[in-house]
Amino acid sequence: MDNNRKNLYWHKHSVTVEDRWESFGYKSCVLWFTGLSASGKSTLANSLCRELHAIGVNCYVLDGDNIRHGLNKDLGFSPEDRKENIRRIAEVAKLFVDAGLIIMTAFISPFTEDRNDAKKLFKEGEFIEIYVKCPLSECEKRDPKGVYKRAKAGEIKEFTGISSPYEKPGNPEIVLETDKMSVNECVESVLDCLVKGGYIVR
Ligand code: ADX
Repeated sequence: MDNNRKNLYWHKHSVTVEDRWESFGYKSCVLWFTGLSASGKSTLANSLCRELHAIGVNCYVLDGDNIRHGLNKDLGFSPEDRKENIRRIAEVAKLFVDAGLIIMTAFISPFTEDRNDAKKLFKEGEFIEIYVKCPLSECEKRDPKGVYKRAKAGEIKEFTGISSPYEKPGNPEIVLETDKMSVNECVESVLDCLVKGGYIVR
């Protein structure tokens, strides 16, 4: 490790996250969506963001495919690269939470250990894990990007659900079964949790 790192000091913010909560009238948190490709993570995060925006809540979606075009374009899909992908996203999400936003992350995030490491960065109540549950067969049927087809033909290696594992969350705060519930029902159930948890007022 670079020896100069020992000359780094943490600077306290003059505006705290609690100051922001008070002036904004809601509490920030990260809504961590996890699930197979095509399970509905991005769709739900974006629909939810629309609803939150409409009631004046500052929010933002960090999406796997988008972030891999920029910040994480140096990363592939080996377990090590996925770990680094999730580590960086968790750090970015933490900055957003500190800035007072409700941030939604839509990454497969297939490994329990990586999700747990992400959670450790946050204070109690700031990290809400949402399992976007959908059978693999249904995701394969949807296949909007044609990735399952290519993975099954061996054209994409280490593809989650086909040739790389997805570890289901053991104790998520919210489960959304996207083969049984409509987008609207899923969004409403998250909004309900946010109201009940005292994050937002509707
Ligand atoms: S994660 O596993 O590291 O969390 P992330 O959510 O960033 O994955 O990216 C997933 C997206 O990348 C998928 O929606 C799919 O379009 C694309 N992709 C390309 N190769 C793979 C692969 N081997 N496994 C999973 N997704 C892949």
